[in-house]
Amino acid sequence: MLDIRYEKTTTPKEIPGPEDPLVFGTIFTDHMFVMDYEEGQGWHDPRIIPYAPLSLWPSAMVLHYSQTVFEGLKAYKAEDGRVLLFRPDENIKRAADSCERLCIPTIPEEDFMQALHAVISVDRDWIPTRPGTSLYVRPFVIATDPFLGVRPSHTYQFLIILSPVGAYYPEGLDPVKIWIEDEYVRAVRGGLGQAKAGANYAASIKAQVKAHDEGYSQVLWLDGVERKYIEEVGSMNIFFKIAGKVVTPVLNGSILPGITRKSCIELCRSWGYEVEERKISVEELMAAAVDGSLEEVWGTGTAAVVSPVGHLRHQDQVVAIGEGGIGALSQRLYDAITGIQLGRVEGPKGWVVEVK
Ligand code: COI
Repeated sequence: MLDIRYEKTTTPKEIPGPEDPLVFGTIFTDHMFVMDYEEGQGWHDPRIIPYAPLSLWPSAMVLHYSQTVFEGLKAYKAEDGRVLLFRPDENIKRAADSCERLCIPTIPEEDFMQALHAVISVDRDWIPTRPGTSLYVRPFVIATDPFLGVRPSHTYQFLIILSPVGAYYPEGLDPVKIWIEDEYVRAVRGGLGQAKAGANYAASIKAQVKAHDEGYSQVLWLDGVERKYIEEVGSMNIFFKIAGKVVTPVLNGSILPGITRKSCIELCRSWGYEVEERKISVEELMAAAVDGSLEEVWGTGTAAVVSPVGHLRHQDQVVAIGEGGIGALSQRLYDAITGIQLGRVEGPKGWVVEVK
């Protein structure tokens, strides 16, 4: 059990009101959780302190070699005032896998959970309640050794920051346009793709800029070896409904094992859909779009929740999916997941955890 030290802010910020736009990732609450690691001492000095800039050496290893991992989850305020987290145990397990891949010491699961509860509880008044909003929770670990050689750091900091957010995409639930990238790649098997490592996102920026310049909001990545099989979007995993079946790329070592992905698979199966986790080539996908068997496409992610895709472009081929709005299954998944997250609908056992 962590003995958390509390240092509350003496200059609280104004909490955004119900009418204020909550542009994703732009507003931060009054406090953050911080804990240090030193070889020989382990994780120590857990504290909740005012949200403020960090003090790091310019030589801090994270700034040079990207030895860092992060997580993303959301806290919701139910109509009865309860504060709810969605499957936080899954984030904690994935963080441990990510840490392991980047040679970062893991945070004991119960300490991680306690830290989440403690910091969210302190800033619970910041949880927005307008439909489509939530408090985005961003735990992350950084390597802090002031050292320019390449090796695992001996010191780290674990932080949790909180941000009241609206929809991740400005489009909200309107379908997004997605660019299938075949020049750049995000990850390869054996690399970092299945870890939630900042480096994966750095690798994605170039193609994202290219896609934006062409009027597309996201990039759909192909596998890094053959550039043939669909992987993920970077900010989301991807799903297709083809001739009545739900198809999503199988986790192959270079795809992030999304928690919303896992939840969608479990929900679809419980509703009687056949769900195939398998390799799907871009040719198969575009052919299904052309012959009309591609009924729906949606992305899933913590930030994006369930996000319908309206257009796909691969090289010079552009296809429109559905009638231009959200598909019936995508809408059903969105309603079920947000309903469970908000405590309106009873989900499978253990999916929702209350923050006291
Ligand atoms: C999330 O969905 O929580 C992520 O970490 C994706 C990020 C691009 C916002």
